[in-house]
Amino acid sequence: MSKNLHGLLLLYGEDILSSADFQKAFAQTHHGCTNVGAHSIGVALYALAICSLLEKIHVKTNMRNVTIAALCHDLGILGRYEKFKNNRICCKQHPIDSVTVYKKVFGEMDAHIEDAIRHHMWPLTIMPPKYHEGYIITVADKLSALSEVLGHSPARFFNHFTFYENYLSTTTG
Ligand SMILES: [Fe+2]
Ligand SMILES: [Fe+2]
Repeated sequence: MSKNLHGLLLLYGEDILSSADFQKAFAQTHHGCTNVGAHSIGVALYALAICSLLEKIHVKTNMRNVTIAALCHDLGILGRYEKFKNNRICCKQHPIDSVTVYKKVFGEMDAHIEDAIRHHMWPLTIMPPKYHEGYIITVADKLSALSEVLGHSPARFFNHFTFYENYLSTTTG
C-alpha cells in the first residue's frame, strides 16, 4: 500500500486513530491472527485504494465517510467473548453495537457512515447497504480479512505514530 494511502488515512482518520476507544481495539483479538485495531486500519487502506481506483475512472467517492466507517465498523466487537454467546450472534449484533459505540464516543454520525457500518457484514446478513460507502466497506472488509489470514495485512506497514511524525515533518516543512 502506498504512502499516499497512509496520508489519506491520517487526513480523514486522525481523530479516530488517536482516540482512547480506538486504541482499545488493538487489545481485542480478531480472525485468530490479528486484532480489531490493525484489521480496521487494513480495511481503511483497502477502502481508500478502491476509492482511488474508482476516481481514476471518474466515479466520485466520499473518502472521509469511507475512512471513518472502515475504522469504526468493528468497534462493537470489543469484549465479544463476554457479551456475545456465540459467533452467529456476534456476526449479527456487532455492526449494531459499532454504531452505538460510535455515537457514544464521537456523537451523531452521517447517515451514509451509519449505513456502511450497520450493513458491513452483507451478504452474511440479509440487508445490503444503501450507499456506495457501504459496498466499498463490505469488499474492503473481506479483502483485509483474507490478507490477514494469509499474513499480508496492509496494516503491517502502517505505524500510526512514526508515520504521523514523518507526515508532519513533510507537510509543515
Ligand atoms: Fe465486522
Ligand atoms: Fe471487519
